[in-house]
Amino acid sequence: MRVTGTGHASMRIDTAAGSILCDPWVNPAYFASWFPFPDNSLLDWETLGQVDYLYVSHLHRDHFDAKHLRDFISKDATVLLPEFPTSEMEDEFRALGFTKFLKAPNEQVVELPGGLKIMIQALTSPTDGPIGDSSLWVEYDGVRLLNQNDARPTDLSVFAELGHVHAHMLQFSGAIWYPMVYELPQAAKTAFGKQKRDRQFDRTWRYIDDLKADHVFPIAGPPCFLDDALWQFNDIHGDEGNIFPDQSVFLSEYAKVGGTNGIVLLPGSVAEVTTDGATTTHPVPIEEFFANKVAHLEEMRERKRPIIEAEKASWRHPEVDVLGQMKSRIEPLLEESIYLAKGVGGPVRFDLVGYDGESVESIVVDFPGQEVRPYADEKVRYRFRTDRALIEHLLFIDEVDWVNSLFLSCRFSAARIGQYNEFVYAFFKCLSEERLQYAEGWYDEHERSTDAEDITLGDWVVQRRCPHLKADLTRFGIVEGDQLTCQLHGWRFDLPSGRCLTSVGHKVRAHRVDKETPAPAGEALT
Ligand code: FES
Repeated sequence: MRVTGTGHASMRIDTAAGSILCDPWVNPAYFASWFPFPDNSLLDWETLGQVDYLYVSHLHRDHFDAKHLRDFISKDATVLLPEFPTSEMEDEFRALGFTKFLKAPNEQVVELPGGLKIMIQALTSPTDGPIGDSSLWVEYDGVRLLNQNDARPTDLSVFAELGHVHAHMLQFSGAIWYPMVYELPQAAKTAFGKQKRDRQFDRTWRYIDDLKADHVFPIAGPPCFLDDALWQFNDIHGDEGNIFPDQSVFLSEYAKVGGTNGIVLLPGSVAEVTTDGATTTHPVPIEEFFANKVAHLEEMRERKRPIIEAEKASWRHPEVDVLGQMKSRIEPLLEESIYLAKGVGGPVRFDLVGYDGESVESIVVDFPGQEVRPYADEKVRYRFRTDRALIEHLLFIDEVDWVNSLFLSCRFSAARIGQYNEFVYAFFKCLSEERLQYAEGWYDEHERSTDAEDITLGDWVVQRRCPHLKADLTRFGIVEGDQLTCQLHGWRFDLPSGRCLTSVGHKVRAHRVDKETPAPAGEALT
């Protein structure tokens, strides 16, 4: 099995029974904030795009690059579709001209002509990607590969049960706006960033250990930030709180925990994977490439500047009545929302900075009051500050997912009272009837599901499944003193009270081994 690195989470898998192109991303994403690094735009995409199968793990724009898919990928390719709850991904593919689809039943091996086997695991909680993320398992001629991508399944047993895996591709770096955009003292940001960076690596080691593949390929990031306004997010400034460590850092951190089987793919690197080993060739030596990272980034910044400027020029739509349109789009959803609105639990304020860089219009999305209105000098749960032009653009293009556009762009700052609130972001990625209904239904089921099994961790008896997304705490739970940490997403819980220290709600059921009465759980959405 031949694996060609094509940048970020993208790769082309070639076998004698056919080729699969995964997640080809080339054009900047999220308001021209993210670019693939190393640059992959100079690859021979005309040739790479002539494939038998196309797999895109999810709709995040650093994976689903509509322009690139339209311009370069063969419309004869059969699209391998994860079993997602909504038809959005298929609709987007059809709009680009794709007509051949294979809807892969979730977690079931599908045998394709010639003996190529695939299995797709779809994750479908409202917090998984843009309502859905997925991983692709491939087997041909005894060689097995798992492209886990940036998906976070609770465990990898469904893949491990299919036999020993030879190549495991997974994310290790950050792909989020936290903590950089928060209006915090620099020392606090650094401390939170460092924690997050450590957690990302811990989670990666755990997944690697789960599968024990012969070879581990760090993929799916980090992106690079070429706009001057975002340049500081690149991990080139010696900031230990930077959440975007690159592949060379992965190799050195992995070595510290005994990892010796990491393989980095640059765009154009080729790995030949067999049951006996892997041989890899690179367009330039890996160490040399990363030793010159700053120079590569500076060169890319100059080359891509016109693209960024052209995108920026398209954002302003002065004719858009922002308050009026937010009202008409969001108020009907507020009226329908039970779980998400209750979960947010307070007003969320948007400060929109005008074209002059100074004037500010403040708009409140009032979840309890079910209305969108001007800010009224009140206490708010969250405050976001961003350029008015960005919101104008989102309204102009009728964007239903403000996470997959505004928030991932990192072109905003934020402040909040209290803990992280996942419902805020879940709501703003569900600005359509279809998505909102799905998310509401998911939380409804989640709320009702019983979770009676308990386990013992250290001196504590705790519920087996994490109150966040049900990770098995026998594997992901760590108790230190009176605190439980679930390593899947790093959420922490105070065991004596059961309180979640990371987010609103999500109480854990726990009691000391020597005490009989458990602390009450529940009230997950308060
Ligand atoms: S499942 Fe997310 S922190 Fe446990």
